Amino acid sequence: MDWGMKNRISRIIKPKTGKTVMLAVDHGYFLGPTTGLEEPRDVIKQLVPFADSLMLTRGLLRTVVDPANDTPIVLRVSGANSIIGDDLSNEAITVSVEDAIRLNVSAVALSIYVGGKYEHQTLKNLATIISECEGYGIPVLAVTAVGKEMARDAKYLSLACRIAAELGAHIVKTYYCEDFEKVVKSCPVPVVIAGGKKISEKDALELAFNAIRDGASGVDMGRNIFQSKDPVGMIKAVRSIVHEKVTAEKAFETLKI
Ligand code: 5RP
Repeated sequence: MDWGMKNRISRIIKPKTGKTVMLAVDHGYFLGPTTGLEEPRDVIKQLVPFADSLMLTRGLLRTVVDPANDTPIVLRVSGANSIIGDDLSNEAITVSVEDAIRLNVSAVALSIYVGGKYEHQTLKNLATIISECEGYGIPVLAVTAVGKEMARDAKYLSLACRIAAELGAHIVKTYYCEDFEKVVKSCPVPVVIAGGKKISEKDALELAFNAIRDGASGVDMGRNIFQSKDPVGMIKAVRSIVHEKVTAEKAFETLKI
């Protein structure tokens, strides 16, 4: 792995702890004005100081993030689908690597739908973007999106994560599940977890704690942070779990809810 690639990865996964708290605010790419992100500028502004990286789309980056911000950017480069469309797995590559470089991103992110109707297309998208990004030392985060028909269990998620890593993804984002340590052990690159749909703050912190305990390299969390009654408190609480091994109970006590 070349110096640029290693440097960009270390901007995301902090060398001091080997962990990361990524803030995901890319939901609008297929969900439109998601609850909590209807007017994203202020939400992002108040949360970004506590995020190790910000995951979002090109459109949001250019319109709501101050270019003077020095938080590493993980740019979503797949999409062209919507929640009301034919099939969510019908994604394309939406941003050129040249534009990602122009936007000075630290990594790009792309979804794959293993077992989905357009599985092959999304895996080809991943392989293509990795081959292009390798030439510029830009890491690729593969998001293992799970279609409604798929079970979010260790067997399925291990399959999806391993395929992403075998195609060359540098980081894989997936969901926490029972026997999660099997998913991490069979994936040769760092695994981070999504938070998923909004659950109680207590449960979300427990999810983060369990994922780290079971080998995750961090979280790439969205709704359970920006839809919380105390979003700033929530991201700080997640940070304390991820980087300082604070228990979920102790982290929960710090929230103002
Ligand atoms: C959608 C994504 C989202 O960024 C993701 O699911 C993370 O956000 P949340 O914690 O809200 O699930 O990649 O495919």
